[in-house]
Amino acid sequence: MKLKVDEVLCSGHARCWTISRKFFTLDGDGYSAMRGQGLLDVPSELEEAARKAEAKCPEKAIQIVE
Ligand code: F3S
Repeated sequence: MKLKVDEVLCSGHARCWTISRKFFTLDGDGYSAMRGQGLLDVPSELEEAARKAEAKCPEKAIQIVE
């Protein structure tokens, strides 16, 4: 599984970070540090958290690619 965080849509709600601080990180301004980084590998043990974050992001900024 891979995912990307849209650079424009991410508005810093940080729900992704709340769901998994192991995987989702924030930059100094509170936005996802993963935005605009392209497709990133999701470790298998964090796939469930990634799906949950995709569903919970109010801006739909997280997109999973299987
Ligand atoms: Fe951004 Fe959505 Fe996370 S707005 S900080 S990707 S919950």
